[in-house]
Amino acid sequence: MSVAEKLLRKIPQYTRNSRHLRSVIQHGTPKKLANLAQVEWERMRKKVRVNSNPYLLIIDPCNYCNLRCPLCPTGLNDLGREQSMLSFEHFKHYFDPHAPYLFEAYLHNWGESMINKDVFKMIDYAQKKNVGTNLSSNLVIAQSEDLDALLDSGLEYLVVSLDGATPDTYLKYRIRGDFDKVVENMSELIRRRNARGLKTPVVEWQYIVMKTNEHEIPMAEEMAKKIGVDLIRFIPVGMPFEFKNRKEVADIWYPDSVKGRVDSDGSEQQFGQAGKPGPCFYLYRSMTVNPDGGVSPCCVVYRKNRDFAQLDHTQPIDLPGIWNNEKFQSARSLFSAEKIDKRRPTVCDACDIFAYHPTKVRPPRRPSVTGETITIHRSES
Ligand SMILES: C[S@@+](CC[C@H](N)C(=O)[O-])C[C@H]1O[C@@H](n2cnc3c(N)ncnc32)[C@H](O)[C@@H]1O
Ligand code: SF4
Ligand code: SF4
Repeated sequence: MSVAEKLLRKIPQYTRNSRHLRSVIQHGTPKKLANLAQVEWERMRKKVRVNSNPYLLIIDPCNYCNLRCPLCPTGLNDLGREQSMLSFEHFKHYFDPHAPYLFEAYLHNWGESMINKDVFKMIDYAQKKNVGTNLSSNLVIAQSEDLDALLDSGLEYLVVSLDGATPDTYLKYRIRGDFDKVVENMSELIRRRNARGLKTPVVEWQYIVMKTNEHEIPMAEEMAKKIGVDLIRFIPVGMPFEFKNRKEVADIWYPDSVKGRVDSDGSEQQFGQAGKPGPCFYLYRSMTVNPDGGVSPCCVVYRKNRDFAQLDHTQPIDLPGIWNNEKFQSARSLFSAEKIDKRRPTVCDACDIFAYHPTKVRPPRRPSVTGETITIHRSES
């Protein structure tokens, strides 16, 4: 087994779990913990109508980006949604009803969040409401004052997207990026954090392993030690949910040295996602809000015409009502023996990431990659 393969099998799950656990311990209140228990109980019981609330919020400050990554719908200009900025006022309006239940909020989804200068205020606001914050950034446009603003905001976890150990390799995926600038920003942020005696943000170098960069993994590890990042995490490459030509794309981008995780079927690149037993966890644990107030069923799906709800910034947000609307209930019912009166078709009908309940007809598999299970765009958040 190659070094890369060993690393990929071990690292992602471990770091992810410990990160979530830390948030639960740090931001837990009796009310949040009771809600967490109820979420997991209702998911286990495959409830279609739920009394619990999501404990993770993914809220996107903007879906504009300075880069053009070729396997990202934003980079490809193929989001199927108008690009927009989330104002601080709208952010608060959407965030507040969730806050009593949240352990974590993700301040990114389909854009480069630092293009929205209010992102620092949003982070600060969430932290002051006892919600841990998480940001993924390509860190290309960040200026010196932005690094200080990040430190001042109280951000708990920063993922830096840097897929390569040399400029040429990095630029194969991060089109329009600037390798030296990202390394400089990441190093400087860590230096200033340490100089100020701060513990956060934890800085993760995230390295998507692709055919173009798999040979630089050992070099990246050496660099990571020198820079002093808290961890370097190697994650599998995925492709957008709506891609049709999956086989051709996989042939171009999927690495040769890494074949998948021990508990997968051994062939997929997306670790532990496809065919997961049990109901889709997104439909119980997390709500995904786009900058235009549209609610996607999960952070994997991006098109506007797939939305499950529309938040209105002029009206109070009825969180339990939205969470139990016809679309959410219809989607949950795919994983349950429970029958519902008005089942509506949703994007989840054609999704094969999670295993359907035996009483439900499984959708035909999407075009597979060399007969494998499908992959999705992102790693589990
Ligand atoms: C759509 S990006 C938005 C945040 C920011 N622009 C960035 O790239 O970090 C969300 C996450 O998806 C990751 N990502 C991008 N392309 C990917 C791919 N093909 N496979 C897996 N993850 C990917 C990014 O590195 C980032 O962590
Ligand atoms: S992955 Fe991130 S950096 Fe790349 S185009 Fe998409 S949003 Fe931009
Ligand atoms: S599209 Fe798939 S992963 Fe997303 S919410 Fe629906 S079933 Fe879950």
